Amino acid sequence: MATRKVCQYLWLVLLASLLSTSLSGPLQAQSAVEPDFEFFRNEVQPIFLAKREGNVRCIQCHTRSSAFRLQPLSDGALFWNEEQSRMNFESARAFIRPGEHPLQSRFLTHPLDASAGGDAFHGGGKHFLNQSDPEWRIMADWVAGATSRRPPRETVVRIIQTNAAGDDSSVIDPDTNQVVGVIGDIEIPHGVSGSPDGSVVYISNEAMHTLDVVDSRTLRVKRRIPLTDRPNNVATTPDGSKVYVAIMEAPGAIDVIDTASMARIKSVPTVGAIHNVYVTPDGRYAVGGSIQRSTINVIDTRTDEIVWTKEMDAGIRPMIFDTHPDGSTRNIYVQLSNFHGFAVIDFNTREEIARIEHPPVEGEEAHLDGLQAAPAHGLGVSPDGRTLWSTSKVYSHAYVHSLPDLKEVGRVFVGQHPEWIAFTPDGRYAYIGAAGDNATYVVDTASLTVVAKVPVGQTPKRVGTVMMQLD
Ligand code: HEC
Repeated sequence: MATRKVCQYLWLVLLASLLSTSLSGPLQAQSAVEPDFEFFRNEVQPIFLAKREGNVRCIQCHTRSSAFRLQPLSDGALFWNEEQSRMNFESARAFIRPGEHPLQSRFLTHPLDASAGGDAFHGGGKHFLNQSDPEWRIMADWVAGATSRRPPRETVVRIIQTNAAGDDSSVIDPDTNQVVGVIGDIEIPHGVSGSPDGSVVYISNEAMHTLDVVDSRTLRVKRRIPLTDRPNNVATTPDGSKVYVAIMEAPGAIDVIDTASMARIKSVPTVGAIHNVYVTPDGRYAVGGSIQRSTINVIDTRTDEIVWTKEMDAGIRPMIFDTHPDGSTRNIYVQLSNFHGFAVIDFNTREEIARIEHPPVEGEEAHLDGLQAAPAHGLGVSPDGRTLWSTSKVYSHAYVHSLPDLKEVGRVFVGQHPEWIAFTPDGRYAYIGAAGDNATYVVDTASLTVVAKVPVGQTPKRVGTVMMQLD
């Protein structure tokens, strides 16, 4: 009994001395660092939801085990609300020593590999192999009192190939034509577009019916924005303020996402389900095409209202635009269901002014299997506006036409079932997803030769050029 009393007394002394050091000792100055709530909510919390290869997401365990307690997400929610975020913040705070050396915080040492300064054991495994891991650095920066992300080391051009039958998208460096990163945890990634500052990449998620916001530096999904239904392609405005998402289920819509609040602000009803959506190069219009109803739907991006629609005689597949010298839209080039070529529509008069069919390629066997009613399914206008590229799944070639006179000026073999096209901003290379080869073909545009065949994931279709920040 007596021993127990002594023990209790000793504990009290220890506690009191700990408290007094933390109130009056050297710790006092350091606790002037106040961890920031906004930074925690927007930058740290996504780490608890992110899937790291071979690891379990933090949220799977920490809504129950251990004193580090995360709030469960509300039914159907994909992120914590304000109140839940506050509770998560308070819980994480208990395991940090703000302003001190990062390895003094259990929050930082527990998920960090022991070889990199982490502690010996975490029931949830080791999530970060070293202290330069971009996610670990976000957590460490928060503990150190950061209120915003550190400036990027560099902002670079990247080509993103989404793998339509995969759960990943491949990030290609156009300087080396190698895959330098993989964006995982998005099943059936469809369209891809970037934010102009390179901070995030948007990928539509067909499996979850979300627009996924991917952090360029961590390559992890940072937010999933719920859509009205199953999405197809996406497009960002040149100023980066909005993303338009094609909704592929009847009756059809184009969802409008405000990128600042990361929320859907409108769903614009369209004539038919929408396969692809684009923003015109001047940013004035969003243009969506319907396969089922054969309509082109044009939205004014200032009002987010439909300003005109045009019905064609076949389903609308990929589209692309060229511009007048003042930057306004000149023509829409459009591929149509069951047509091996493309049609040309004058954007001002809204009249079809030409239809160009691709001739067979001599010596090339015609492929008619698995065309999905789209023998030609990829269009691109080179950045200098001088050529129009169109891919043929039937003849495995890209056909290159001069602009504005639309004469065929060359062809290049680009693999089995070639699909979408993206160019480097300098126009030097064209990237084409060869769905049947699980590769992205890289074509030197001057010589029309294939300079690389980059192995990617399953059934690569959509490909996009984006800016990405590096940590
Ligand atoms: C597989 C389940 C699991 C996952 C995933 C997991 N943890 Fe844990 N975590 C635990 C368990 C169990 C404990 C308590 C035992 C221990 O301290 O290792 C714990 C303890 C902790 C603690 C210390 C809390 C205390 O009670 O002292 C922190 C902080 C922590 N985890 C952070 C994280 C973070 C951050 C992640 C994600 C990067 C994560 N954990 C992922 C299971 C998990």
